[in-house]
Amino acid sequence: MVAPVGYGIVGAGYLGKALARGLAAQPGARISAVFDPANAQTVALEFGARIEPTLEALLAADDVDAVVVASPNGLHHAQVVAAAQAGKHVFCEKPVALSYRDADEMIRVCEAAGAVFFAGHVTTYMAGVRRAKEAIAEGLLGELTFVRAVRTTWEGHGGGYSWKKQTAMSGGHLYHHIHELDLVQSLLGPATRATMVGGNVAHHRAGDGDEADMMAMLLEFDGARFAALEYGSAFHWPEHHVLIQGTEGAIRLGFQGDGCTLRTQGRVEQFLLHRSVEEEESRAAFYRAGDEDASSLFGTPDTDVPLWLAGILDEETESFHRLIVTGQLDDEFAALADGSAARSALATADALTLSMREHRTVDVAEVSGGHVVR
Ligand SMILES: NC(=O)c1ccc[n+]([C@@H]2O[C@H](COP(=O)([O-])OP(=O)(O)OC[C@H]3O[C@@H](n4cnc5c(N)ncnc54)[C@H](O)[C@@H]3O)[C@@H](O)[C@H]2O)c1
Repeated sequence: MVAPVGYGIVGAGYLGKALARGLAAQPGARISAVFDPANAQTVALEFGARIEPTLEALLAADDVDAVVVASPNGLHHAQVVAAAQAGKHVFCEKPVALSYRDADEMIRVCEAAGAVFFAGHVTTYMAGVRRAKEAIAEGLLGELTFVRAVRTTWEGHGGGYSWKKQTAMSGGHLYHHIHELDLVQSLLGPATRATMVGGNVAHHRAGDGDEADMMAMLLEFDGARFAALEYGSAFHWPEHHVLIQGTEGAIRLGFQGDGCTLRTQGRVEQFLLHRSVEEEESRAAFYRAGDEDASSLFGTPDTDVPLWLAGILDEETESFHRLIVTGQLDDEFAALADGSAARSALATADALTLSMREHRTVDVAEVSGGHVVR
């Protein structure tokens, strides 16, 4: 009998717990150990796993073949490097790091160790995103020309208690919500030039976080294709959607439970962002709950992910587990495991950050040394 793959959970909060559930459901997978300085108990009890007192102890364990890093963002770099050096495969939550340089090092260390490095970029698994990419590959949109991604909401005051609102640990909105930037580049390829304006316009009270709460970005792709992104928590009219324009048609992906539409000459197709009406409705309910104040939607260790996200994590963990067991990964997910999605997301995020700081357009190659390949 083949021994099960043993997983170690590093960070067992909102997402770590959900990822552990996804992995535990895979045939031939076992949650062996948990390291979390504050919240190891729930996951350890649920899966009969050992609580390790330190990361080093977890990484030294023979029954841990792979780790899931779902700790606060600013901790990922050191933890992933240590895991790879201990010979463990790695699944790393997004953003995998807070800079291109750190992400690049993590990927290189995993490669040198012969370890899998898998970036947990969830939009890749959304059913509607997959349908959109299929339609684009079929040529229904002609040549892609422009993508607009909007992720804007209002968060009330006093959220600074959470690490998710402290830039040094979260990276701020752009890094913490790297999803749309990743999606845009999965459609158009790596951006070549980046411009961002913005800042903290509405969160200056005691107890607020310190991140920029309003960001408007322009991306160029070799001067031939373009994208515009808006992010932030200073917007009382919440919007969340991605609009993909081509020479022959367009697709709108609704992220508020409002579904997706493909329009080409003489044809309209409606489809869901998620796998079922129930998952789509759970997305709509998620947004209704955060309509007045989206800070109520921060995941915390004692909350569970909504149905739509659990569905994505099931598929994501299935991919990761299968990659470890068989070495196989479907082509549509390859960018998550060859380093390219993580590298291009972080390189462009760094270029945008530099652009905002220095009030200029930045060549992405300036921060990546021109090494981004997708
Ligand atoms: N893919 C998604 O849609 C999605 C959604 C939410 C969060 N995330 C990502 O998942 C990761 C975790 O976020 P979360 O929402 O679960 O946050 P969380 O605050 O609920 O959980 C983080 C956990 O990490 C633990 N922790 C703190 N220091 C640690 C250390 N040194 N080593 C190990 N664990 C430590 C905390 O005690 C806590 O239990 C983040 O990278 C976040 O960006 C992804």
